[in-house]
Amino acid sequence: MGSYFKENKTRIISELSQWLSIPTISALPEFKPEIKRGTQWLSEHLEGIGLNNVEIIPTEQDAPPIVYADWLEAGSDKPTVLIYGHYDVQPADPIDEWVSAPFDPQVRDDKIYARGANDNKGQHFIILKAIEALLSEDKGKLPNIKLFLEGEEEVGGTHLEEFIKENSKKLSADICLIADTPMLGPDQPSIITGLRGLVYMELIVNSAKTDMHSGHYGGNVHNPIQVLSWILSKLKDENGKVLIPYFYDDVKEWSPKERAKINEVTMSEGEIIEHTGVRVLFGEEEYSPIERFGIRPTLDINGIWGGFSGEGPKTVIPKTAGAKVSIRMVAHQDPEKIEQSFKDYVTSITPKGVDIKFKTYSKEPAIIIDPSNKYFQTAVEALKDVFGKEPKFVMEGGSIPVGGHIKKYLDIDTIYMGFGLPDDNLHAPNEKFNLGMLDKGIETTIKFLKELT
Ligand code: BES
Ligand code: MN
Repeated sequence: MGSYFKENKTRIISELSQWLSIPTISALPEFKPEIKRGTQWLSEHLEGIGLNNVEIIPTEQDAPPIVYADWLEAGSDKPTVLIYGHYDVQPADPIDEWVSAPFDPQVRDDKIYARGANDNKGQHFIILKAIEALLSEDKGKLPNIKLFLEGEEEVGGTHLEEFIKENSKKLSADICLIADTPMLGPDQPSIITGLRGLVYMELIVNSAKTDMHSGHYGGNVHNPIQVLSWILSKLKDENGKVLIPYFYDDVKEWSPKERAKINEVTMSEGEIIEHTGVRVLFGEEEYSPIERFGIRPTLDINGIWGGFSGEGPKTVIPKTAGAKVSIRMVAHQDPEKIEQSFKDYVTSITPKGVDIKFKTYSKEPAIIIDPSNKYFQTAVEALKDVFGKEPKFVMEGGSIPVGGHIKKYLDIDTIYMGFGLPDDNLHAPNEKFNLGMLDKGIETTIKFLKELT
């Protein structure tokens, strides 16, 4: 029997290619007109598939708008599904490493290659096509739908939380559905039971009002790069333990039985080595790789700058140096507390007379999904039907901040049912999406939605 994708393959690939060819990069200001073109294309597409009340909602400071649409004709006795996705994509560099140009989508070997092919255009396209299929062929089997797509996810945008808070009535629903996560493999269905939280901070060390000659002043003054290095070296030890006081206090301890269940999904050392090219794994000895990924918190330095790094020498003591640091949190850790202990600790190890400034970009708790939730069970059944196999439960190491806001302001749970594959190259050159996963994703989502009516 043909699937909706197979019956409409040429059209669906051509529409997805149009969508992928618009470079909706949120990080770079020169792409603002493309963001506008993208929201226009998207709203026409949403209207085209039969959704109502399509709106392009501007955000403050001319940030990327939110695109909203709904279909509320199922009747008040049927549940309402809120759908979230993001239409912005990461920058495409390094461009030279792409086999085909990032915004000229190409199908090779049953995979579509383009920036955003997985994250998140290909993934939310699955839900759009599932809705389209039901609207055109089986209207009575579609629950009420509210859908919103934002354009600031990849830059950790700040307007979405406000939007959800202020529009809690407009967005009210029974359950939220997001496709923005990977599966274990094309023949191994899986569904997310947890996501790590994220506290993302920038710290700037300042010691003087001007850069200084290192011969004239060296030996008499603090060097901000040196101070920053002292600070950063005291954040994590050689065994992978984070050194911030109270950091592990609230971390949920899992019972041996729960840990055994988590370890049913293996993340092998060999697999990580193969995907990344690292020579050895480094992390907490007493935990397996899958546990370090899903149930253990960690801290990483994501960027560092200061002084002179151009060609040749320059004998300078800069007045400032900075770094970006991200903390991935797990169940029961409170982002407010973690942010505060980080600031207090860093301040306490900063020498006298040196100023330190903090900026927080993200502050979202971890998300834990209760597998007994009836909507989660419906998703599990749909995956089992389409893939012909029991899906595995995965605690994911990445973060999707919106889930926390949805829980907080709308008081509903989210089902994270995505169809990416581990080697889809998100945020990297040659990002792709597997067309077989697109096909099965549409079928699974149709089943899931139908089952709710
Ligand atoms: N789609 C990803 C999230 C993701 C990736 C979840 C892989 C699970 C596995 C999302 O677009 C993303 O990149 N999230 C960021 C956080 C955001 C605040 C920049 C992340 O997890 O670093
Ligand atoms: Mn992303």
